[in-house]
Amino acid sequence: SVEETLILVKPDGVARGLTGEIIRRIEAKGYRLADLRLVAPDRELLAAHYAEHEGKPFYEPLLEFMASGPAVAIRAQGERVIEGFRSLAGTTDPTTAAPGTIRGDLGRDWGLKVQQNLVHGSDSPESASRELALWFA
Ligand code: CMP
Repeated sequence: SVEETLILVKPDGVARGLTGEIIRRIEAKGYRLADLRLVAPDRELLAAHYAEHEGKPFYEPLLEFMASGPAVAIRAQGERVIEGFRSLAGTTDPTTAAPGTIRGDLGRDWGLKVQQNLVHGSDSPESASRELALWFA
């Protein structure tokens, strides 16, 4: 069925000038961009978005990284877009993400405490509606 998902071009993707390339891949796959905005997230938004990771060793570096510059938030729509975008994105670790994916083609390890992996995509319909409400409040 037609779904919606939240896609983020994270601050590393925006800073490296990869926003256009990432959007190109989303559109080329056939997903629809229903809304899009440049967001400088505050700590409250990031803490809500990443609540499930609180207490993990990479949590503080993750919030610091995500607050380091603007992100592009995208509301994307399409049949099975949640699963489809996560497949386009590739696995979390950009060093080993498959070539052909956004992370596999464009990302790598920069030796930091957090994986700077260019994009985020919601992992379920419940996460998508929760996250879309936060980023498109
Ligand atoms: P994402 O899956 O979008 O959301 C959680 C983020 O935390 C993840 O992307 C990475 O940026 C980061 N992350 C997840 N696991 C690790 C890890 N083991 N070490 C460092 N960063 C991680």
